[in-house]
Amino acid sequence: MNVGTVFGVGVGPGDPELVTVKAAQLLGRAPVVAYFSKRGNVSNAFSAAQRYLQPGAEQLPLIYPYTVELSARDPRYISALRGFYLQASASIMERLARGLDVAVLCEGDPLFYGSYLHLHAILQREHRCVVIPGITSFAGCAARAGLPLVSTDRVFSVLPGTLPEAELEQRLRAPDAVVIIKLGRNFAKVRGVLERVGRAADATYVEHGTTQRERLLPLREKTDAQSVYFSLILVPQLGALPARAEEAPWPQS
Ligand SMILES: C[S@@+](CC[C@H](N)C(=O)[O-])C[C@H]1O[C@@H](n2cnc3c(N)ncnc32)[C@H](O)[C@@H]1O
Repeated sequence: MNVGTVFGVGVGPGDPELVTVKAAQLLGRAPVVAYFSKRGNVSNAFSAAQRYLQPGAEQLPLIYPYTVELSARDPRYISALRGFYLQASASIMERLARGLDVAVLCEGDPLFYGSYLHLHAILQREHRCVVIPGITSFAGCAARAGLPLVSTDRVFSVLPGTLPEAELEQRLRAPDAVVIIKLGRNFAKVRGVLERVGRAADATYVEHGTTQRERLLPLREKTDAQSVYFSLILVPQLGALPARAEEAPWPQS
């Protein structure tokens, strides 16, 4: 009997219309659809993809043992997550062995900080794994904000808010354009660093970008000290794009 294929399917930042044609077509014929989820929560990736699934497709939730309850460096977290990925891979492999293809839904792009990466590392040893790229969260959020991300020969950095404060500060002192992801409990720390290096005034905060729950505002107008997990901060490059055409660095005609 044929063995199934694993598809890591990027479903974009949340708006179902930002699912690519390729992903939608694949989801329309996938017999098994797996998705990561926090216990008791609706998965964002599932919400974005739901309308494209074929009726009768098996839904395979992969429930995280922890999300933010323990630090990612806590040995209990590391050991529980290792067990979780092995178990999730085993249930996917059981379907593959029956000749079924399995689509694993991923928010944004699967290879950009996605949980799918861990399954990919295990499953690709013995199985065919195909990745369908998706629109990343920062691309979706920058588009909603109408903010240029980076231009010409400038550098663009992605910083996880989970980095130690000193490292965040050192990196934010460079004039690069930056997106800071994984805020949640790290929000107050990140805002403090942005204020210290003088970049808070230009920053934009976006939560649940591109969805019906979207909240998008200048960081200086966000007065509460908390943020949700699905949030990020866009920080423009210093000396950002010229506001008027006559200030542009290219020759004027
Ligand atoms: C584990 S990373 C996954 C990134 C995802 N694979 C991507 O391509 O964007 C999760 C982080 O992405 C960001 N994120 C994902 N979706 C988002 C959205 N719709 N709005 C704002 N931030 C989002 C948040 O910073 C969140 O903590």
